[in-house]
Amino acid sequence: MGFRAHILGAAAGGGLPQWNCGCAQCNMARAGTIPPQTQSSLAVTANGRDWAILNASPDIRQQLTACAALHPTGLREVPLASVLVTNGDIDHVAGLLTLREMQAFTLFATAGIHEVLAANPIFAALNESVVARETVALGQPFDLAPGLRAELFAVPGKVPLYLEGETVETDLVGEQTVGVHLQGGGGEALYIPGCAVLNADLRARLRGAPLVFFDGTLWRDDEMVRAGLGAKTGKRMGHISMSGPDGSIAGFADLGVARKVFVHMNNTNPVLDPGSAERAEAEAAGWIIGQDGMEVSP
Ligand code: MLT
Ligand code: MN
Ligand code: ZN
Repeated sequence: MGFRAHILGAAAGGGLPQWNCGCAQCNMARAGTIPPQTQSSLAVTANGRDWAILNASPDIRQQLTACAALHPTGLREVPLASVLVTNGDIDHVAGLLTLREMQAFTLFATAGIHEVLAANPIFAALNESVVARETVALGQPFDLAPGLRAELFAVPGKVPLYLEGETVETDLVGEQTVGVHLQGGGGEALYIPGCAVLNADLRARLRGAPLVFFDGTLWRDDEMVRAGLGAKTGKRMGHISMSGPDGSIAGFADLGVARKVFVHMNNTNPVLDPGSAERAEAEAAGWIIGQDGMEVSP
């Protein structure tokens, strides 16, 4: 078996339902009338045996329990070759703490993201003599897992919430927010769970891609404000919205991407309700709404 991509978690930070959220969708997810979704993570293999996990969410324990392909194959053997984090956000790194159990794997990130982790002593719980830190430069292809090549590229984004200063640049292009190009086992995909804006570089990279997993945080920029859940817009959080003239649905329309999958969806995003008009609109535009446990092979 060749390339497989398995969505471990389709929701953004907080998940669906979010523990303290009484919005309509979180309540529906609690009641079981729409499917709950765990936080942002994707597992990928090129050979059906050795896996890489892209982003370690706070829900990783539950996600690994639910994913048979990642279950232990021996007393202390797991088919996990590596973990790669695409930014330092809590929803993408907190799960690393769950992976402490003297279990060997390689932890890949840019130098900038490794610095953020190293500055926080709690991550030393991942014993460096067991979990090797590998620093990856942008644009330098590397082996993420047996048979699986990866290359990181900069995506407009911001520093993690807990590192924000007085002023915040929300579309920084550098090492703090990256996308991943994956290739191997007869498959190819781009993984971009956080993106502030579709700039020319990104559009060129996306053009004609066979499979893309893309930031689906919000349907509209002021969705959380309108729902009375906070003052932050998508732009302020460093996330492009799905709808509207500057949104991802419009932005991808002429890029010729064969399969487009939304991931990292906030619990307020109406596409998480399978019966919503917005879900129908996104699907009519050729998008797949990711969900926990969904497997996509190119
Ligand atoms: C984001 O994607 O904007 C962050 O994960 C937000 C957060 O840290 O809660
Ligand atoms: Mn996030
Ligand atoms: Zn909610």
